[in-house]
Amino acid sequence: MEEDNHLLSIVLSPSPSSFQKCIVVALALFSWILIHKWNQRNKTVGPKTWPLIGASIELLKNYERMHDWLVDHLSVSKTTTVPLPFTTYIYIAEPSNVEHVLKTNFSNYPKGELYRSYMHVLLGDGIFNADGEMWRKQRKTASFEFASKNLRDFSTTVFREYAVKLSNILCNVSVNHHDIDMQDLYMRMTLDSICKVGFGVEIGTLSPNLPDNSFAQAFDEANTVVTLRFIDPLWRIKRFLQIGSEALLERSIKVVDDFTYSMIRRRKAEWKNNKMKHDILSRFIELGKEPESGFNSDKSLRDIVLNFVIAGRDTTATTLSWFTYMLITHPDKAEKLYMELKSFEEERAKEQNIKLIPYDKDDVQSFERRISQLAGLLNYDSLGKLSYLTAAISETLRLYPAVPQDPKGATRDDVLPDGTKVKAGSLVTYVPYSMGRMEYNWGPDAKSFKPERWFKDGALQTFSPFKFTAFQAGPRICLGRDSAYLQMKMTLAIVCRFFEFKLVPDHPVHYRMMTILSMAQGLKVQVSRRT
Ligand code: HEM
Ligand SMILES: *[C@@H]1O[C@H](CO)[C@@H](O)[C@H](O)[C@H]1NC(C)=O
Ligand SMILES: *[C@@H]1O[C@H](CO)[C@@H](O)[C@H](O)[C@H]1NC(C)=O
Repeated sequence: MEEDNHLLSIVLSPSPSSFQKCIVVALALFSWILIHKWNQRNKTVGPKTWPLIGASIELLKNYERMHDWLVDHLSVSKTTTVPLPFTTYIYIAEPSNVEHVLKTNFSNYPKGELYRSYMHVLLGDGIFNADGEMWRKQRKTASFEFASKNLRDFSTTVFREYAVKLSNILCNVSVNHHDIDMQDLYMRMTLDSICKVGFGVEIGTLSPNLPDNSFAQAFDEANTVVTLRFIDPLWRIKRFLQIGSEALLERSIKVVDDFTYSMIRRRKAEWKNNKMKHDILSRFIELGKEPESGFNSDKSLRDIVLNFVIAGRDTTATTLSWFTYMLITHPDKAEKLYMELKSFEEERAKEQNIKLIPYDKDDVQSFERRISQLAGLLNYDSLGKLSYLTAAISETLRLYPAVPQDPKGATRDDVLPDGTKVKAGSLVTYVPYSMGRMEYNWGPDAKSFKPERWFKDGALQTFSPFKFTAFQAGPRICLGRDSAYLQMKMTLAIVCRFFEFKLVPDHPVHYRMMTILSMAQGLKVQVSRRT
């Protein structure tokens, strides 16, 4: 107490003796900073740091462009260390380091308690936010589901139906010369389809009148606020006081929960009527009848549902949006794709002895009939023949991975293959967005959109999942990869065959900082029909 008063008097009224002390303190501070700077004198890589607060200032200053800030750093140094007040963030972009973290030493790099505590309010104990036994159990059940042919056939039908719905809306929009936000439309489509495939319910956000969608809005809001926690040291205080972003979060979560619990109740009611269903939620409800399964409460089902929504909706929709943007900005690639789709249509029709319906693009009815006809030719096998489309999707994901960075919490001290020391408690993050843009990974044209790089001797080639990390790699690799490609190919085959897009003049396209790489202001376009 006395000490405190004394310090206070130094500051408030510097008498000669306290003035001296003041100098001493200032000198100590000054030399500490000097020593810190001296220690960093040979440091040519990594962000600028300060004593105590580490690189917080740099991180905050660059928050809105963080992915590109990381590109800048990681292109100079394959591993970038960002010291922060209570932890260290280590960003990696080199495949052998990534393999070490995601596979070789998997058990040392779970999501970790830090990540789990930040995301818990939204994801709860669902698969994305679970480690250990809880994760393993959900992984097992879900991978069993994804492997089933039943689910694949069901998904194919659903994806086709919703892709046609989306095309009809585009047709309507092109007739009326309205602008439309493609990201919003894709989000509606993927939300409707994940709800149908995952939980067997029809929620109809892709109706022609495009109804307001409070669930989707609240869900995005919650996701953004939760992401902010990673760099906002004050969030716990804000949450305690229920002010600012954390108050908004509370309201958003309420909307999200209401929607989710009502979906679960609906499903359980139908279940009582003895209608056997094969959707993913039903499977977990069934398992939940075993008390020790861990899926027996509505809360655990809520977590499962929300994790699948975040897994299946945002990732696919943002990828479709960036894909559309790539076509707008690369007309030569768009033309190449159009040619592939035209000849695909003709060949499939010939193969099945079907006559293609002649249409006039100014006659909407014949146009829509032709769309339905092409849709009828699309299924899992025939879509496999669209190799330029597949390559262009992979190329989009290389440059605009839906999950741009993905942190893991180190449980014990470790050393990465490149010699970087990892302290227990640090966050080690592999950065797909940066990885796709590194010349040391992809060569001098790394930053260009070139679907052609996915071909070798005329056939599609794959790359190591530790280099092309859009779907993660190792034991926790994305479970929905094939399903996502199926939906994206189905949708884009129809959309890119029959429509052309122009960006609304001056519409800004850049990402929003959240766990998913979505477009901050959506993708506003003008649509026209093609012959
Ligand atoms: C373009 C589309 C997609 C991309 C880029 C993508 C990417 C990813 C990534 C990066 C992860 C790892 C996240 C983590 O650290 O836990 C992941 C996990 C997962 N994804 Fe996907 N995903 C996509 C679509 C889907 C779809 C459509 C589904 C299912 C409906 C799905 C289901 C899952 C599941 C269940 C996991 C958790 C796996 C685990 O933790 O064991 N994904 N995905
Ligand atoms: C076209 O859009 C309008 C709203 O702009 C909607 O009322 C109408 O039902 C739509 N028609 C079709 C065929 O989708
Ligand atoms: C994995 O991490 C542990 C620390 O948990 C370390 O002791 C071990 O050497 C690492 N294993 C490999 C294969 O690098």
